[in-house]
Formats: sequence, structure tokens, C-alpha cells
Amino acid sequence: MGESRLKGFGEAKNSGLGTVAADEGTVAPDRDPRKTFEAKPHTTDSAINSSEASHVVGGETQARKATHLKVCLEDDVQCESLTTGLERYRFRHCCLPELGFEDLDCTVDFLGHALPVPLLISSMTGGTDLAQEINRRLARAAQAYGLAMGVGSQRVSVERPETERTFAVRSLAPDAVLLANLGAVQLNYSYGVDQCRQVVDTLEANVLILHLNPLQEAVQSRGDRNFVDLLPKIEQVCAALPVPVIAKEVGNGISGAMARALLDAGVAAIDVAGAGGTSWAQVESARAEDPLQRRLGRTFRDWGYPTAHCVTSVREVDPEVPLIASGGLRTGLDAAKVLALGADLAGLAMPFLKAAAESEEAIAFEIEALTAELKTAMFCAGCKTVAALRSPDVLQRFPKS
Ligand SMILES: Cc1cc2nc3c(=O)[nH]c(=O)nc-3n(C[C@H](O)[C@H](O)[C@H](O)COP(=O)(O)O)c2cc1C
Repeated sequence: MGESRLKGFGEAKNSGLGTVAADEGTVAPDRDPRKTFEAKPHTTDSAINSSEASHVVGGETQARKATHLKVCLEDDVQCESLTTGLERYRFRHCCLPELGFEDLDCTVDFLGHALPVPLLISSMTGGTDLAQEINRRLARAAQAYGLAMGVGSQRVSVERPETERTFAVRSLAPDAVLLANLGAVQLNYSYGVDQCRQVVDTLEANVLILHLNPLQEAVQSRGDRNFVDLLPKIEQVCAALPVPVIAKEVGNGISGAMARALLDAGVAAIDVAGAGGTSWAQVESARAEDPLQRRLGRTFRDWGYPTAHCVTSVREVDPEVPLIASGGLRTGLDAAKVLALGADLAGLAMPFLKAAAESEEAIAFEIEALTAELKTAMFCAGCKTVAALRSPDVLQRFPKS
């Protein structure tokens, strides 16, 4: 691994974000987002009942985003017993790789963009001061290391345009592949091509992600649960937008059959966002006030297709489609495994969130560790390129012990 690119990467050097208040759902221009936030119960409603009451529509979305961050940073919201399935795979060990470590080539092409490493900062946040600081830190890292980066759902910025700036990272990452984000279900709640175009334009994004999150909406109090006839609306968006559209889950996975339907509707790429990592049923359970909703989230904490299964099943239906594997990836070895299974990019959310909440150095460390782990897997499996990881017999599947 070469010298750290930390030097000159951002201004804020060692600024942990501390604990996060549930009412961080405001945007106050003069507020220092790096100060320590006071911890409060994980409720959205307490935030809404106070300062947010007069803007309840956009304010509810904004307060929910704040509570999501708080829960993700402070609670254990990972799947409980379900895993990604990657632990069942092992690389061959090559005692004579006939390669120099420095000659390893991690570059990949994704949707026509050349990336120096096949890593994605998965879609997470926006809408609040804290989210803005996290997005800014991640964007500087994306620029410094050449990672692709998603932002969280931009619905809040459509509802409250004053929050647009919390997503605005293009000036910090002029060369990065940036992925805009909206929930596909919003297409059944008065959103259409115009709002999709708006979020792409304001972010100056290269790609739009439409996320699919039926379980989260089912568990969420007042969730948007009308998923009727969404596919034709997704098709309209794909046809109208000037940028490619990616269909993404949020941690419950996309099967081969669902991927086929989405690709036939015109999406350009799939992000499986499989199960085994962050559980959105558990996040919603942790913030629910209603005991029924709390139980619902707990019951479905481990729902969905494990990430490894999603990657192989999407690759079975389409060997060529640009494919992102995410959901529960925690090391560069996990990333190497999904790339060997056929993914083009490996995405991580929670590890980057935790690092970003700590400091810019922590993000740099995370990226350098992930890259070193990925390269070590390539080296010891005798694979000079990412494409070579996909050669037969490089990755072997073992039965459950
Ligand atoms: C705080 C947080 C907020 C998230 N918000 C969004 C979102 O707005 N849109 C989206 O597509 N996914 C969102 N996700 C889901 C992630 O992109 C990812 O699919 C999921 O967390 C699984 O990846 P992980 O196990 O690496 O965390 C969010 C994740 C986190 C941790």
C-alpha cells in the first residue's frame, strides 16, 4: 500500500461528531455541526412535536433522517443471525503468485467511468447539519481516493429546498462518480420524472439510484406502502432521464428474477444491497414508539436474501449487467469475494458512516485498510486484475459446517 493520501484531504482533522440528538432535524447555517450533540430518545415524533411542527411534511422526513443517523451510530442494528453468505466462500491460496504486489491493478470500469478502486460509499444521508458534515467528509475522501459515492434519499430536499446544501458535495468531489437517490415508491406519491431530474441536477450527479425498500416502509410508522404498478413508472423515469438509473435495495436484497424485471424496464445497473449487514427493519424498530411496530421490526430483523446469494442469482440472469454488491460487506476481503462472484463494485454503508462520524483520518484509514485487504486477496489468489478474480476456481464455495 502506498503512502496515505490523507495529506491535504479536507480541513477538519480530528473532529468526532459525538452523540447525535434525535432533533438534529434542522438546518441552522450558523451552527457548528462538529460540536457534541446531546443524546435524546430515538423518537422522530418528539422532534416533530417541537420545532418541526409547522413544517410537518418536509419536517417529518427531515427528523426521520436525523433519527436514522442517531440509531445507526448508537444502536446495534445489524442482522442478528443472518449473514451475507460470504463466509462460505474461500479463495484458493497461491503460494507462487508470480506477481509483484505493486503491479496489482484494481481499476474497474463502471457505467463508462474508470475507477481506480472498485469501491462505493453507499447511499446514506442528507437533510440535516450533521448529515451535511458527514456527506462533506465522505466527498473529500471520495475525491482523494477515487471512490464512487452515493448520498441519502433527496426527498427531503425536494420537500424543503433549503436542505439542498446538505447534499451539495460536487464542488468537493469534482471528479467523483456521484449517485443521486430517491425512493422508487415516491413515484406513487406525486413524484415523477421532474423530481428525479431535479435531484440529479442539484447534486450534479452521474447516476440516479431509485431505492426499493418495502420492508422498511412496512415497519415504519406512517410508511409509504403503496407499491402498486411501480415498474411502469420506473420505466418512464429510465426512458426520460439523461443519466443511467440504478435499482437498489436497502439491505434485503434483489433476486435474479426481480433484477430481470427491473432491467427489462430499463434500469442500467443493479445494486443488490443484500441482507447480512445493516437491518432497516431493526433501525425502524429501534425508533418506533408503537409497540406493534417495534415488534414488527424485531421479527423481520433477519429478512431477505443474503448478499452472496443475490450476486450469484443476478449474474445467472445477466452475466454482463453492471452490478454493485453491497449489504454487510465489512472488509476488503468481503469486497474481493463479491467481485470474484461477479460484482463490478463493492459498496459499504455502515463502516463509512462510523468512520465519517469519527474523523476524516478514520475515513482515510478505512479506505486504505479496505484497499490493502482487497489487494492482499488478489495477490495471494494470484490475480493481477479485478477481472482475474472472476476466473474459474479462484473462489471456492464450501458447504455450511
Ligand atoms: C444511516 C443510513 C442511511 C441510509 N439511507 C439510505 C437512503 O437514503 N437511500 C438508500 O438507498 N439507502 C440508504 N441506506 C442503506 C445503505 O445504502 C445500504 O444499502 C445498507 O445500509 C446496507 O449496507 P451496509 O450493511 O454496508 O450498511 C442507508 C444506510 C445507513 C446506514
